[in-house]
Amino acid sequence: MSKATIEKISNLCKRRGFIFQSSELYNGINGFWDYGPNGVAMRRALEQAWWNYMVEARDNVEGQDSTIICHPQVWKASGHVDQFADIMVDNKISKKRFRIDNLLEQQSPEVLQALADSFETEADVAKLEASFETQVEQKTELVKVILNDCKVIDPSTKKPGDWTEPKQFNLMMQTYVGPVFDEDHKAYLRAETCQPIFINFHTIATSMRQKVPFGIAQTGKAFRNEINPRNFTFRSREFSQMEMEFFCHEEEAMDWYNYWRDERLKFYKDVLNFRPEATRTHDHEKLAHYAKAAMDIEFEFPFGWGELEGIHHRGTWDLSQHAEHSKQKLEYFDQARNERYIPTVIETSVGLDRLMLAILCHAYDEDEAETQKEGKETDVRVVLRLPAVVAPVQVAVLPLSKKLSESSEKIHKDLQKNFRSAHDVTQAIGRRYRRQDEIGTPLCVTYDFDSEEDNCVTVRDRDTMTQERISLDELQGYIFNKLNA
Ligand code: GAP
Repeated sequence: MSKATIEKISNLCKRRGFIFQSSELYNGINGFWDYGPNGVAMRRALEQAWWNYMVEARDNVEGQDSTIICHPQVWKASGHVDQFADIMVDNKISKKRFRIDNLLEQQSPEVLQALADSFETEADVAKLEASFETQVEQKTELVKVILNDCKVIDPSTKKPGDWTEPKQFNLMMQTYVGPVFDEDHKAYLRAETCQPIFINFHTIATSMRQKVPFGIAQTGKAFRNEINPRNFTFRSREFSQMEMEFFCHEEEAMDWYNYWRDERLKFYKDVLNFRPEATRTHDHEKLAHYAKAAMDIEFEFPFGWGELEGIHHRGTWDLSQHAEHSKQKLEYFDQARNERYIPTVIETSVGLDRLMLAILCHAYDEDEAETQKEGKETDVRVVLRLPAVVAPVQVAVLPLSKKLSESSEKIHKDLQKNFRSAHDVTQAIGRRYRRQDEIGTPLCVTYDFDSEEDNCVTVRDRDTMTQERISLDELQGYIFNKLNA
């Protein structure tokens, strides 16, 4: 069981230059986060690990990088302008605002039953939520009365609230393109990275001479005006996604769905070394009308299980919508089948920031017994057991004394050609080990007075804390093998 709490993780992230509030100087801005030197190194390495696994290691997946602002019709066609909304209610007593789905999840069976009776539906949260959506569109005043009559509890006060009429809030962030600020110049910051993939499908298939089945991947920023950003970076307003859309024939779609689910689970196990119990899969009970299957890969965060990644069978919905709105034919001619059709899409979609949070929680450890092995200090050792592929520093070179720093810097410069290396000179060696443990550095290389004579250094392993004397001639190879073990 992980020893991480969100408070410990966010404190460590700030203390060690991983992640902190954006615009902190002005008391921060809710739902926005900045990455410091260690954070950005880890984030780039993680994005690269995903890109390597999903694009570079495959012949049937291409990459792309689109603009954040697209033609506004893209978001009309995708349904975001009309439907990408959350239903919200306010409690006039506590002045707190809730998303209806979150509020329902926190009600007792009695309250849920009372609501179900009022809406003439089943007391199942998913069914109630669906019923709410239609009711809110049609008669919000009545819904307000029902919420109050059914004594819906405000989770923050644990007492029935004085509820306002429910309202729909669109989550798209808006801006204007050009010098005129009117409806005709309104544009949106993309709410997901996948839509520009759909609209580029034909251009990419043609330019790369790809034949269905094949995929297109993209990583980059997405923006959502989340009503309730929370749990550190878990739900942010500006975040990055890593998405892959795989285009195939409808008949093969479920096979590809299963294939990509397994591939993504393999990524967590083999590339990120997640413990088997850290993730689980969850099939969606409620499917979009066009979808044949959808599931989440969930991670056990300190605040409970949460969605990490979605695997979605999107049918032909996206390409059909863009064909209709653009009045372009988005059909594909399959020579092997001698058939013209709109490809079916299987999507894998994970949040880069959310995954980074999961990795930090997974890696966080406090160990007392191990500390004692190193002699003097008996304090709790905080250590991030990060996989080497994403560790911001993969190897740190530490001269035992400042007097030795000229020689140790040479070693560091040499290592820097092949690894993310740091040269850490100041403070006692024990403190420097602790500092490197806290940022998850897998290996520390210590250069001491004997090194001057024997041309050897001591390599300390973060996890086992064992130390080995290694000849400088063999150091690069030794480190390579250790980091790739
Ligand atoms: N194209 C499909 C799509 O965007 P989604 O379930 O809305 O699906 C996919 O988002 C992933 O993006 C999520 O599983 C999560 O990892 C990440 N994500 C979504 N909203 C987020 C937010 N507000 N903050 C951080 N990550 C988010």
